[in-house]
Amino acid sequence: MKTNNFRSPLFYMGDKFKLLDQLKDKFPKKINNFVEPFTGGGSVFLNINANKYFLNDRDKYLVGLHKHLIKSSKSPDIFFKKVKNTLEKYELSRSYEEDIIPKNLRKKFIKTYYAQFNKQGYTKLKNDFNNNTKIDYLSLYILLILGFNRILRFNSNGKFNLPVGNVDFNKNTVTALNNYFKVIKNKKVKFYNQDYKKFLSKINFRKYDFLYCDPPYLITAGEYNKYWNENEEIELLKKLDELNKRKVKWALSNVIEYRGKKNKILTDWSKKYESFNIKSNYISFNDNTIKTFKEVLIYNYEK
Ligand SMILES: C[S@@+](CC[C@H](N)C(=O)[O-])C[C@H]1O[C@@H](n2cnc3c(N)ncnc32)[C@H](O)[C@@H]1O
Repeated sequence: MKTNNFRSPLFYMGDKFKLLDQLKDKFPKKINNFVEPFTGGGSVFLNINANKYFLNDRDKYLVGLHKHLIKSSKSPDIFFKKVKNTLEKYELSRSYEEDIIPKNLRKKFIKTYYAQFNKQGYTKLKNDFNNNTKIDYLSLYILLILGFNRILRFNSNGKFNLPVGNVDFNKNTVTALNNYFKVIKNKKVKFYNQDYKKFLSKINFRKYDFLYCDPPYLITAGEYNKYWNENEEIELLKKLDELNKRKVKWALSNVIEYRGKKNKILTDWSKKYESFNIKSNYISFNDNTIKTFKEVLIYNYEK
């Protein structure tokens, strides 16, 4: 797919990368402060022009990774050197630099040779990461990139518990990292790690500020949907009503229909505002089949 948009190097589940052109087309043209309470991987803010960015997510590891990458953008060479050292130390695949998968392994496991090759080193890196009293974000980033479906998944004891994936630290990853480093250097970004309600309560919205919300969806499955429920949804919609009264411009991404399930609360509420149907296909990671579903952008301003 040819595009001028940058994909976040976090390759976040459910990221908006493929829908960016449709979203950008509906966003206000002039933005002073861009406010994003559910930033996720960051594919949206990376591709929006604004004077300043107020970003937030409740996932502390995700925000930690963003902060680590932002810091690394000052010296990408050192970052890539550390990546290389870690991949070499744990004997993990790194096709962006060299192909180290033995031919016989490729032949024996035609479709899963990366997972087979990386399994041992991945487990060792994961154990070392989990036994470290300090969070080592470089290791966490590598675990994410080489992990199954690239999900930031921790158990209740705070231990990272994603199994190895059939993936590689490849050229796409390096391109996405370089783009992130390049783009972030020219942006004034502030990252927060709070519940969205607390985060929004502290924002002093002014003319030309724009709030974009991409919360977890009530009717789809996802690692980050765990803490989302009808009450959270209702609270968010109330907050958007309140901001609408204060003439703050906002847009909300969401899914109103999925596998026969409908989000009635949202559908009823959305009638007060503008609604745009996004053209998209959703590929389920669980069964790899394509399901069509109804995804929308609801917004409170004239286009
Ligand atoms: C649909 S994802 C956002 C994806 C993002 N648009 C992207 O392109 O990567 C929703 C995000 O909301 C975060 N989240 C869930 N509940 C939250 C809450 N109560 N406050 C703030 N963030 C929350 C999740 O950690 C997740 O990253």
